Amino acid sequence: MKALVLSGGSGTRLRPFSYSMPKQLIPVANRPVLEYVLDNARTAGATDIGVIVGDGAAQIRDALGDGSHLGVRITYIAQSRPLGLAHCVRLAQDFLGDDDFAMLLGDNILPGGVADIAGEFTARRPAAQVVVHKVADPSAFGVAELDENGRVLRLAEKPARPRSDLALIGVYFFTPAIHEAVRAIAPSARGELEITDAIQWLVGHGAEVRASEHSGYWRDTGRVEDVLDCNRKLLEGVRYSVQGEVDEHSVLAGPVVIERGVRVVRSHVQGPAVIGAGSLLDHSSVGPNSSIGRDCVLRDTHLADSIALDGASVTGVRGVHGSLIGRHARVGPGKGGTAHHTLVVGDHSTVEVAV
Ligand code: G1P
Repeated sequence: MKALVLSGGSGTRLRPFSYSMPKQLIPVANRPVLEYVLDNARTAGATDIGVIVGDGAAQIRDALGDGSHLGVRITYIAQSRPLGLAHCVRLAQDFLGDDDFAMLLGDNILPGGVADIAGEFTARRPAAQVVVHKVADPSAFGVAELDENGRVLRLAEKPARPRSDLALIGVYFFTPAIHEAVRAIAPSARGELEITDAIQWLVGHGAEVRASEHSGYWRDTGRVEDVLDCNRKLLEGVRYSVQGEVDEHSVLAGPVVIERGVRVVRSHVQGPAVIGAGSLLDHSSVGPNSSIGRDCVLRDTHLADSIALDGASVTGVRGVHGSLIGRHARVGPGKGGTAHHTLVVGDHSTVEVAV
């Protein structure tokens, strides 16, 4: 079985981050989301993986290379515009050939993996197998209606009035039957070739389409609050490890990872937390549920439940909470010690201040 991982989307809900980096590279517990997706493809039995890339192609290639460090072999497939999930399958037809394949969205996190569902698919080999999860508001997703045996009766993409509470999550398994379906459908109202429509086409043509319910943790990391929630979830797996320097005035409590070249000076780190290589914590309190990237500087700062990306620095701010701080962003007092707030905030950024 091969895998197709989709990383071409534009990520408008993750602005301003997605202006400068593909959303699939946002780090969660200090690893890009995409790496977790590739792990899931590998543990589901696919090592030959096509990765669909759009505007962020160069950064994704830099981050993942040929995939060998993750135990997979990556073929990059360019998509000039995000024209839909079924469009990705069309683009990947040569790569996929006559093989069965798993299709995984590059921004969906399932820490429990999808190996069990891959096993169900290979054992029974329906034309397509989707994965559903009960959600409170299915209208934001593809929605499936099933019979009592797990066979899909009908699918709809983001219906205004959903007929079930079962959302399609970003995991699909296909036989080559899907290729005819993606060629047969027309773009939806939002101008995309929807995979939901292609699967519905299979149902309409009498093919067997099945659904498995995933009841474990799943998040589409489309919004900042979802990224922070995934961070909390993935940090649950952190094991205590200290490679950097921690001075005798500092305290590390709970599951904490201090990577190489880190200096912890007169600081308190409350796990779960990871501190990326080369960072400095000085007179600060960090954690719980915090991921600090590489070469960050935190001085006189209290930060919890947050992610700082590589090269970020925060000085003299106590009470940073629920925050996502971008690469090389600088938060802190002005040089002249003025009483003003001076904000250089990128488009679509959010700054919430305590009043
Ligand atoms: C896509 C699919 C949708 C699915 C969702 C899961 O939506 O079209 O059926 O429920 O992913 O994350 P999109 O995120 O492209 O709007």
